[in-house]
Amino acid sequence: MRQILHISDIHFGPKHLVDRAEGVLRLAERLAPDFIALSGDLTQRAKPSEFQRARTFVDRLPAPVVAVPGNHDVPLYRVWERVFAPYGAYRRHFDRETEPTWQDDELFVVGLNTAYGWTLTEGRLTLAQLRRLEERLEAAPAEAFKLVIAHHHLIPPPRFKTQSVLIHAFEAIEILAQQGADLVVSGHHHITYLGSSEQYYPQGLHPVVVLHSGTTTSSRGRGHETGHNSCNWIRVDQRSLEITNLRWDIDRGEFRPVAHHRLPRRGHELEPAPLPESAEAGSGSGVEVGLQGIGRPNR
Ligand SMILES: [Fe+2]
Ligand SMILES: [Fe+2]
Repeated sequence: MRQILHISDIHFGPKHLVDRAEGVLRLAERLAPDFIALSGDLTQRAKPSEFQRARTFVDRLPAPVVAVPGNHDVPLYRVWERVFAPYGAYRRHFDRETEPTWQDDELFVVGLNTAYGWTLTEGRLTLAQLRRLEERLEAAPAEAFKLVIAHHHLIPPPRFKTQSVLIHAFEAIEILAQQGADLVVSGHHHITYLGSSEQYYPQGLHPVVVLHSGTTTSSRGRGHETGHNSCNWIRVDQRSLEITNLRWDIDRGEFRPVAHHRLPRRGHELEPAPLPESAEAGSGSGVEVGLQGIGRPNR
């Protein structure tokens, strides 16, 4: 069994919220994840000082972290850098590798860099990146849980203002589904969302689960997450994948569970939940399943 904390869009800079960052550190200390996924937008304006603060924050996290760049990690106004060295500040002050990988006995993690110099907001994957992704997933142990981290989204949240996806999203979904990727975690929209590749792009294959986090530590939440902060807690065992969405509770000053989802892993079926004997017995029981160790959800 493996436990993963997914955080995103931490946006060190003017919009960063220090108390949320301290809340993430306390959460991670309490839950003791095996691994932490950080899906981009580490900074607001890709400044060296912002990357240095992000590096200090990541170094305080109590588990291995794989992070990828977001569009805010490419300089917007420093045009020369944006065109000729879009990841220069990221590499100098945060991490030399923009597509890191990580693995242990049960997890196989691939980072994707979907940010690039010519874009203002939306992302892309090049064909060379897709080939490398395919090669990396092909080399993964068959039984490993295959997790992919990308800032921009392969699937848009329904009814979100823009339904655009990153360039070559469909080609990426084909590779991910065919190579048996289990989960893609993303950020960028600052909205929590859970979907699957088969909803958006049906291929008759086992769905790749797609999970977005809102902004974990900035004041840039959007839509129904305006003014909110969120992250995800993921538990993986041999048969199932459990995802708990957490949201910052201002009154308690901590991240609290708000929704819970349990999904089968490839090649497995979940046992159907027994029907409740009364409406009272059934109320909320599905949400509480699997929340042991992280407290009860908000009511
Ligand atoms: Fe962002
Ligand atoms: Fe973004």
